[in-house]
Amino acid sequence: MDRYAVIGHPIGHSKSPLIHALFAAATGQALEYTAIEAPLDGFAATVNTFRAAGGRGVNVTVPFKLEACAYATEVSERARIAGAANALAFDGTHCRADNFDGVGLVRDIVTNLRHPIAGKRVLMLGAGGAARGALQPLLAAGPTELFIANRSAAKAAELANAFHALGLGAGVLAGGGWDDLAARGAYDIVINATSASLTAEPLPLPPGVFGHDTLAYDMVYGKGLTPFLRQARDAGAGRLADGLGMLVEQAAETFAWWRGVRPTTLPVIERLRVPLA
Ligand code: ATR
Repeated sequence: MDRYAVIGHPIGHSKSPLIHALFAAATGQALEYTAIEAPLDGFAATVNTFRAAGGRGVNVTVPFKLEACAYATEVSERARIAGAANALAFDGTHCRADNFDGVGLVRDIVTNLRHPIAGKRVLMLGAGGAARGALQPLLAAGPTELFIANRSAAKAAELANAFHALGLGAGVLAGGGWDDLAARGAYDIVINATSASLTAEPLPLPPGVFGHDTLAYDMVYGKGLTPFLRQARDAGAGRLADGLGMLVEQAAETFAWWRGVRPTTLPVIERLRVPLA
């Protein structure tokens, strides 16, 4: 049976084995998918061991996404732009890397939540790896504005400039700090890509960034109403979502990349969904 795994540290909470088992059952694919915790200094060794035992591919999660890019012999353009990979596929000595996080996010917003990005104003909170990974697919979805706001304003501006240097986001993408938000009005979509939800800290956002039709999207999942989502609800945001759909959509993209069959995602999202409030 073909073997796959998700590798991270820690890995205990991962829903990926269940998601891929549901996909395999629904598409009639015979495969095994497990979760492997690699030591912080042992990503490459762990992948090598898995490959030597016949592994065909892995998903990669925190904190190894950058290392996954460096490990591969062939890196997709979007993974290179993201500076990170979340999926590897093995073929003999060859190893391909790709990043499906951003396309998963866009698919969840546009297809599942039916919230268009084209022609809309999008606010990205955070300028770390999670934000960077989502920028190119978000830009490709055609927003009129994509503003990156970050605790460290300089880091957000640097990220926007790095994309401009790659020829991406001219006239659309810009970055700054929380103080820049008050003057910018309400956004159609506000995405939380900071790691603040993991520490239960609210962000210093002016309530005016949320309007009645705003979709507030937290990339984390399974944490119920995060401080960010509570903040958005209290400020009047019309629609709240956590990152479960993004997780399932990126898994489906990975599954299709490995197996050549794209599973249906909505039944899996429904099965795993935990009510937000
Ligand atoms: P990840 O890979 O999850 O994106 P990261 O690269 O370490 O992790 O980035 C974390 C992001 O969350 C950064 O944008 C960080 O802001 P700074 O660049 O200013 O450090 C943001 N972040 C983390 N904790 C935060 C907090 N308590 N309040 C606001 N932003 C926070």
